Amino acid sequence: MKLWGGRFQKNTDKFVDDFNSSIRFDSRMYRQDIMGSIAHAKMLGECGIISREESALIQKTLHEILSDIENGLVEFEIDAEDIHMNIEKILISRIGDVGKKLHTGRSRNDQVALDIRMYLKDEIINIKRLLVNLLSVILGIAEENLSTILPGYTHLQRAQPVTLAHHVMAYFQMFRRDIERLDDCYKRTNVMPLGSGALAGTTYPLDRHLVAKELGFPSITENSMDAVSDRDFVIELASALSILMMHLSRISEELIIWSSHEFSFIEMDDAFSTGSSIMPQKKNPDVAELVRGKTGRVYGNLITLLTVMKSLPLAYNKDMQEDKEAIFDSIDTVKMCLPVFTKMVETMKINREKMYKAAQGGFTNATDLADYMVKKGIPFRDAHEITGKIVLYCIEKNKAIDELTLEEFKSFSEIFEEDMYEEIKLEKCISGRNLPGGPSVGSVKAAIENGKKFVSSCEI
Ligand code: ARG
Repeated sequence: MKLWGGRFQKNTDKFVDDFNSSIRFDSRMYRQDIMGSIAHAKMLGECGIISREESALIQKTLHEILSDIENGLVEFEIDAEDIHMNIEKILISRIGDVGKKLHTGRSRNDQVALDIRMYLKDEIINIKRLLVNLLSVILGIAEENLSTILPGYTHLQRAQPVTLAHHVMAYFQMFRRDIERLDDCYKRTNVMPLGSGALAGTTYPLDRHLVAKELGFPSITENSMDAVSDRDFVIELASALSILMMHLSRISEELIIWSSHEFSFIEMDDAFSTGSSIMPQKKNPDVAELVRGKTGRVYGNLITLLTVMKSLPLAYNKDMQEDKEAIFDSIDTVKMCLPVFTKMVETMKINREKMYKAAQGGFTNATDLADYMVKKGIPFRDAHEITGKIVLYCIEKNKAIDELTLEEFKSFSEIFEEDMYEEIKLEKCISGRNLPGGPSVGSVKAAIENGKKFVSSCEI
């Protein structure tokens, strides 16, 4: 018999039971469901809607059910549809009529809205913790590589020299913004919907603020129809996680390229690479590739959620049950990617020589040569033109810029003097770029200091 079976004369078709049931995927919210019910029961007792004894018995039994679930002693039923009715059914089976009073002044619509908010709040904190670990590892790499020079790229063409510290700190900024987005999303998730009923609130004199306080919510929802049909916070989280995966996929892509034989800037630790079943020489960066690949499903989940919610009329619609698998999958995926990715980055070997060699080729100091001419009074456009000609000459002679003799330089312009060689050294190219936000050691140290402050402000 269904808990809602009163107005029905037939049992639900077996196929409909399976189709309708969400217990396969919403059982993971059992703790949130039970804690929400305990708070609701406590409030019902304190407001005199049920007796204090009844409230106490319900609360005590719910605690017992929680520990039974955690000890693997409970089996959920498909027929009971979802986690909310499974728990309620178990409660009633244990304490009979008193258990039947729990759902007073409540609907599954506000109940599920509460559960998912509580669940996401916990997971946002978990993911934030994983991100903070990644940030700490990035800071460590940056501190050890303040003077490790490598080419910076635009269009994947060597552009100007930078340091590895500066390069990885770019990712620090991205992941920091991801944390800030999670914090922001947390704020809108952290609003308590219970008391909204099915859609139109309830006539019972519930104390919504008491329930909110009990469950650690700083505020309550302000419109019962919105409260039961709002899934913005789910979509916001799916979106924040998509952006996070986008960042992970970008750094993964770079690490994959860097670990190719052609680059050899890094080498993944054996524990974080795999071999080929046919080619004995292979060492593949599978972890980075899988992180890059899993970005696809997280984007997919975002589109799923946006599409499920598109055009839904007020208020609750069963479509909304489809929110869970999508957001759970995004959460699971991110939680799987972050720790393994962090360890992979922590253990990879950095080939500083290869990086430096690559920065020496590709005329990464050409801008600095032009800037040298500007300092000697040549307008930038002319300096750019002359430098372009010098580069062309170097390509023909198969030489780096700094390998040309002063005579060769002078054949392009009389202003070149011996001091030019100092100006176009890679180290000078970097130390000269010392504005805040630039790659010089001082600038990056300042960014690292700020980064450390941010990380310690995150301690959770
Ligand atoms: N399992 C449902 C969900 O996940 C719970 C709410 C169901 N409410 C209803 N009136 N059918 O959305």
